Amino acid sequence: MPKLFYSPASPYARKVLAAAAEKGVAIEVVPVSLSPTARNAEVAAANPLGKVPTLVLDDGAALYDSRVITAWIDAQPGPALVPNGAARWAVMTQEALGDGLLDAALLYRYENFLRPEERRWPEWTSGQMAKIDAALDNFEQLAPGFAGRVDLGTVAIGCALGYLDFRFAAKPWRDARPKLASWFDEFAKRPSMASTAPK
Ligand code: BEZ
Repeated sequence: MPKLFYSPASPYARKVLAAAAEKGVAIEVVPVSLSPTARNAEVAAANPLGKVPTLVLDDGAALYDSRVITAWIDAQPGPALVPNGAARWAVMTQEALGDGLLDAALLYRYENFLRPEERRWPEWTSGQMAKIDAALDNFEQLAPGFAGRVDLGTVAIGCALGYLDFRFAAKPWRDARPKLASWFDEFAKRPSMASTAPK
């Protein structure tokens, strides 16, 4: 069975596990502890970047990053997580935008919570927050089309919103985005999402 190096708080690892659950692909989960300043030798042996998620296949090949892993999951037998035809590119772009929101949220978090206060750069963090808000506004416009969709786009967006609730709980992202909020509150109840929610 493929082995996934993962960290319970990683939203990218959560996306992989939620996609595997939707597809019906069995994956063995190997929790690892990581920090931006200390490499994990076991993960680095499989992935020179030393990052999670990293998936090690039965033949020993390692796959990363999360979008490569979700593409591999979708290539296995089961319901399609990326449609064919014109909608394919929109779904893949939505997965990229969900991940991009997370990239900005992590950079914001590293700067504001990990870097010593006297070395912080407020314009840089507000630039990251502007990206997060613009992605959320885009999702609010798209939300009427999310109903009934279970694909790598909606899974990625669901994991990104779940991360905001987990690490940015004081951010009132729902206030001006009622369609996105109501879609997410239902989508988060799916077993694939509920069972992978960060604690
Ligand atoms: C977090 O603790 O927020 C986190 C952990 C691993 C990867 C990304 C985020």
